[in-house]
Amino acid sequence: MTVRVTTADPTTHRTDLLAVGVFSAPGRLEGTAAKVDQALGGHLGKILHEERFTGEVGRVTILHTHGRLPAARVAVVGLGDRATFSLDRLRTAAGAVGRAAQDRHLNRVAFPPLQHKEWEPAAIAAARTEGALLGTYSFTKYRKEKAHDVNFELLTANRAEAAAVEAGRRRGQVVADAVNYARDLVNEPPNVLTPEAVAAEARRVTRGTKLKVSVWGPQDLKKKGMEVILAVGAASIHTPRLILIDYAPSRPKRTVALAGKGVTFDTGGIDVKPAESMANMKDDMAGAAAVLSTMRFLPLLSPQVRVIAAIVAVENAVGSRGMRPGDVVTALNGTTIEINNTDAEGRLILADAVAHLASLSPDEIIDLATLTGSAAIALGPFAAAIMGSDQALVDRLVTSGARVGERLVPLPLYDEYRQAMRSDIADIKNSGGRYGGAQKGAAFIREFAGGLPWAHLDIAPVAYLDRDEGTGPTQPKGASGFGVRTLLEYLTSRT
Ligand code: BES
Ligand code: MN
Ligand code: ZN
Repeated sequence: MTVRVTTADPTTHRTDLLAVGVFSAPGRLEGTAAKVDQALGGHLGKILHEERFTGEVGRVTILHTHGRLPAARVAVVGLGDRATFSLDRLRTAAGAVGRAAQDRHLNRVAFPPLQHKEWEPAAIAAARTEGALLGTYSFTKYRKEKAHDVNFELLTANRAEAAAVEAGRRRGQVVADAVNYARDLVNEPPNVLTPEAVAAEARRVTRGTKLKVSVWGPQDLKKKGMEVILAVGAASIHTPRLILIDYAPSRPKRTVALAGKGVTFDTGGIDVKPAESMANMKDDMAGAAAVLSTMRFLPLLSPQVRVIAAIVAVENAVGSRGMRPGDVVTALNGTTIEINNTDAEGRLILADAVAHLASLSPDEIIDLATLTGSAAIALGPFAAAIMGSDQALVDRLVTSGARVGERLVPLPLYDEYRQAMRSDIADIKNSGGRYGGAQKGAAFIREFAGGLPWAHLDIAPVAYLDRDEGTGPTQPKGASGFGVRTLLEYLTSRT
């Protein structure tokens, strides 16, 4: 898939499919829709009426122009209510058009110039680019049948506007590439994407960039005192890796630390999961995927923020060398942990990773993890949960997410959640029971953040969509790449 900018008039431009947006209850057609309707002798309006086209978001109707326009077909896409129209909705509409073209094996799709309120041409171009590239994503690496390739054009009225549209296209391309790369990592099967493979991948994608990478294997982890990560990985023949990535621009205004949960497969350990719960547990490295992809693409957006990332790649397997319920281990910050449930492994690996980041004294720490089924039960596949020690940080992340169409729903962190994690034998235990499970998990991780501003995104609800629920024009079944857009927005928008 490619997206490029072309200076051309939509009514004279040759393409396979010309996209035309229509608001719900259109009454009178406007903009490009009106021009196209005129060129088609009023046919567009008539067909929409006959089709009972309501302008519902993402609905697409395709009509053939039979030589009345250089565009062979017109795709009318619903934009929903005019009053509540948003860039997020524009992204969705672009995704719907892209998919319609891909389904029909069309090669060229054109988006006409669009003006709406005070929206910047660059923002419009970015949203359309993202939508087109996210909507036509599929993971076909292991299939004979590959995705049909679609080439998109963003039409501009004049060369003066073309520069802004090109800047937006470029931003949209980077963001979509980043989301799709995270999707690829999560979709990759767990026998292929082992902890060592995640580390090799981190090395591969940072080679020749200004990013600095170091990978700590089992010996290094032992030397550095990361006993907890080693305990989680102990049962697997695929030993754990801690992947450290540093993005250091010349004059950083602040330092943000990112941690990612990268459990390449979560069997639950000795507290083994039932088959239905284990089925998609290759997605348990989605936090790591979001962080790795964010780091990979950050240099292309060159923010003046230092970003240090700690990604833990580990397999939670079943085996005689593995941790058992009742084990006590000591985290990097000296806190002792009673492991009372081997399936609460995400918070364990984050204990060492977050403690390590805290020891580097960043301004703030953000972790992403598919941490709890509890968050998924609370929200369904429609939003992630966010919790933190610093309200301002949480608010900024929620705002960043809202700007890019990723919902982050704050949950409280009452003292009682921490109290539920009290152990009789150690400083803390890793499971405090089902009720309020997402908050209890977060309360556990907070203990390792060294009192620094810290936020935790529990992306378990949205990381992987195994049913139609939660999917849409820009979100196919499978991995979502959730978190990447929020992180890139957060790291590049604040000065
Ligand atoms: N990886 C799971 C959480 C999960 C559930 C991710 C569903 C994606 C979809 C995590 O390691 C886990 O097993 N959590 C337990 C914690 C419990 C034992 C305290 C859970 O949520 O049941
Ligand atoms: Mn688990
Ligand atoms: Zn897990």
